[in-house]
Amino acid sequence: MADSEILLTRRLVDEAMAALDGTCAVDLYEGPPTAIPRSELLRRVKGKDGLLTLLTEKVDAELLDAAGPQLKVVANYAVGVDNIDIPECTRRGILVTNTPDVLTEATADLAWALILSCVRRVAEGDRFLRSREEWIWDPRMMLGQELYGRTIGIVGCGRIGQATARRALGFGMRVVYHNSRPLPADIEGELKAELRTFDQLVAESDVISVHCPLTPATRHLFNAEVFARMKPSAVLVNTARGPVVDEKALADAVRAGEIFGAGLDVFEREPIVEESLLDLGAVTIVPHLGSATVQTRAAMGLLAVENLLDGLAGTRPRALLNPEALSD
Ligand code: DGY
Repeated sequence: MADSEILLTRRLVDEAMAALDGTCAVDLYEGPPTAIPRSELLRRVKGKDGLLTLLTEKVDAELLDAAGPQLKVVANYAVGVDNIDIPECTRRGILVTNTPDVLTEATADLAWALILSCVRRVAEGDRFLRSREEWIWDPRMMLGQELYGRTIGIVGCGRIGQATARRALGFGMRVVYHNSRPLPADIEGELKAELRTFDQLVAESDVISVHCPLTPATRHLFNAEVFARMKPSAVLVNTARGPVVDEKALADAVRAGEIFGAGLDVFEREPIVEESLLDLGAVTIVPHLGSATVQTRAAMGLLAVENLLDGLAGTRPRALLNPEALSD
């Protein structure tokens, strides 16, 4: 394995860099704070045995062709893998791994940071004070929405959706969810969660938190027609993938008062933020910080490196997504 060569498309946190140290030859892209340009990626991937990729790198047939037939493993430093053509990797016998579990709690916390910011106008209040405008405590000033006794709708109730729902119980909220399949009865019981159709969830929820993967079926799942059916007092929070929400339609809906507000951690054309969202006080935006804690980014890095090294060594990685690609 020591003679394996890998491409790492951005410097990871120190713990993960140390875990890689001395294990294989690392070609590290350290360009400006942008994703590695596609032409450079295609050039540098050539001859590599492993890739440690971020969600900003598209791993498709073109990239796999450029890498060559020796490529054994693509270890994604993310739980989401919409950037990777997994069937194409499987067809070529290339292992694909991700970083599940280790970022669940951090991402659920961030979803709640956005929920609270939206319903209690925290970021808006902060921006207001910084504007140095004159103010006085006022019974009508900056009224938000109460959470206690209201309903949160979880769209995509996997690990992160469930962790977000669990926190809702502490706020005295009722949980409804929409998922590709019903949750096991014990988890439904623990979360006191009730399954709904998407349309029912949209109509019923006071807070909607998005946790589904990005697929052709979920692209623009939240669009103008859906916003029109949400409660005018409701907020939408997205910590999943940007393209699940039609951002222009969202900005229009907030501006028109069709919904109360929105919190976004992810963006349709990331890192670009839709211009029409930027002037809306009721929208809180943060730069894809879901997993961005000291502890979680270290855990993600260690898991990604472990997956990569196992894939290079020919042992089954802990977070393998395509076991069909394993040779017998
Ligand atoms: C993921 O893991 O998919 C997040 O978006 C980044 O942590």
